[in-house]
Amino acid sequence: MRPKGLVIAIDGPAGVGKSTVGKMVAARVGYSFVSTGKMYRALAWKALELGLDLGDDAGLVALAGRLKWEFPKGAGPEADVAIDGRTLDREITDERVGKASSGIAKLAGVRLFMKDMQRLAGIDGGVVMEGRDIGSNVFPDAELKVYLDASPQARAERRAQQLRAQGLEADLEQILDFIVKRDAQDSGRKNNPLVKAPDAHYLDSTSVPREKVVDAIVELFERARKAF
Ligand code: C5P
Repeated sequence: MRPKGLVIAIDGPAGVGKSTVGKMVAARVGYSFVSTGKMYRALAWKALELGLDLGDDAGLVALAGRLKWEFPKGAGPEADVAIDGRTLDREITDERVGKASSGIAKLAGVRLFMKDMQRLAGIDGGVVMEGRDIGSNVFPDAELKVYLDASPQARAERRAQQLRAQGLEADLEQILDFIVKRDAQDSGRKNNPLVKAPDAHYLDSTSVPREKVVDAIVELFERARKAF
C-alpha cells in the first residue's frame, strides 16, 4: 500500500472527458489530480514559442530538463501545469498545441522524461492521473485502471459544446476530423501508444452522463480500496 492511497489511472482518446471526470473523481475521493496531457501540451507550447524543431528529441528533452515544472491546484478552469512560474491555461488548449503535443509525444526521449516526472508525481498514491499510457506504461502497478471511451462523433459534439460555452466558434466537422486524426496518431505510434491495459475497466461513455461515469469510477475505487 502506498502512503497516501491508491493510484487511479484513467486513459482514453482525445476529448473523451478524462480531465473533467478525473477531477470530479479526485474531488469525491479526496485525491489530487494530475493531467499528463497538459505536460505534453506545456512542452509543445514552449517549443513552439522558442521556434524549436518539434522532431528534435534530444533538444526537447534538454528543454524539458531546463524548465521548472509545477502542478498547481485550482489555479484556473483548465490550469494544471506551470512552467518557470507561468501557469498555462487557455494558451495550451487550442488545436495547434494539441497537434504539436501529439507530435512530440511520439519521441522516445520525451516520453521517458515525462514518465519519470509522472511516476514521481504519483508514486505515493492518493492521486488520479489521466493520459494515454498511465495504466499501460507509467503506472502498470496502479491499483485501479479505467479506460474511458466514447464514439468520435460524441467526443466531437462535446468538444463543440465546450467551445461554444466559452463563447468560441466551433465547426463540428473540423473538430471530428481533428479527433479522428489524433486518435490515429496516438494509437498508431511505436512508443507507448494509446491502448487499454489488459486489467483496465472499460467504460463507454458515449451515451452516459458525466455524473454516472464518475459514480461508476468511485464505485470501482471503493472496491479496489477494500482489496488493498
Ligand atoms: O489529453 P490531451 O489531448 O491534453 O493530450 C495531448 C497529447 O499528449 C495527446 O494527443 C497525446 O499524444 C499526448 N499524450 C501522451 N501520453 C499521455 C498523455 C498525453 O502521449 N499520457
